[in-house]
Amino acid sequence: MPEKLNITEFNRETLDLVNKIIKRYPEGRQKSALLPVLHIAQAENQGWLSSETMDYVASLLDIKPIEVYEVASFYSMFNLQPVGNCVIEVCQTGPCWLKGSEEILAHFENRLRIKAGETTADGKFTIKTVECLAACGNAPVIQVGIEYHENITTLKADDLLEKWQAENKNSHTNPYL
Ligand code: FES
Repeated sequence: MPEKLNITEFNRETLDLVNKIIKRYPEGRQKSALLPVLHIAQAENQGWLSSETMDYVASLLDIKPIEVYEVASFYSMFNLQPVGNCVIEVCQTGPCWLKGSEEILAHFENRLRIKAGETTADGKFTIKTVECLAACGNAPVIQVGIEYHENITTLKADDLLEKWQAENKNSHTNPYL
């Protein structure tokens, strides 16, 4: 299983970045920075948000922890449990479904020998199903970190898996760096 991290303090560089983002908003409206700060915290915490990490985010923004939990638990892009190094998000909404996303999902599941929502025993891959990724014109679509892969076929899925295996893919990159 993936190592469990609990980031409860950013390093200087990350803190400077977070403060810069908070300053985009008027005094007393620092909660508006919650989404970007959660993305940064998740990237720093190996792809997931522990309650300790969310509490730290709440303290940075001077808001209540529940306000962070509410947002983090609403959006599928945030993970509240440890995940693998590479999270494969497969869109399951109507247009992708019509264009074969079920087959793509089953293909990833068979190749990695896990089901959606699970992580491989070596901690390298997690598969998730998600709702519309807003690229329906090129369905079916998957997202891996900040990368979109569109018009996915089982052949393309195989090529991507081979590439990610070879490079030991880590999808948890800080989108603001
Ligand atoms: Fe899959 Fe919109 S339905 S991207």
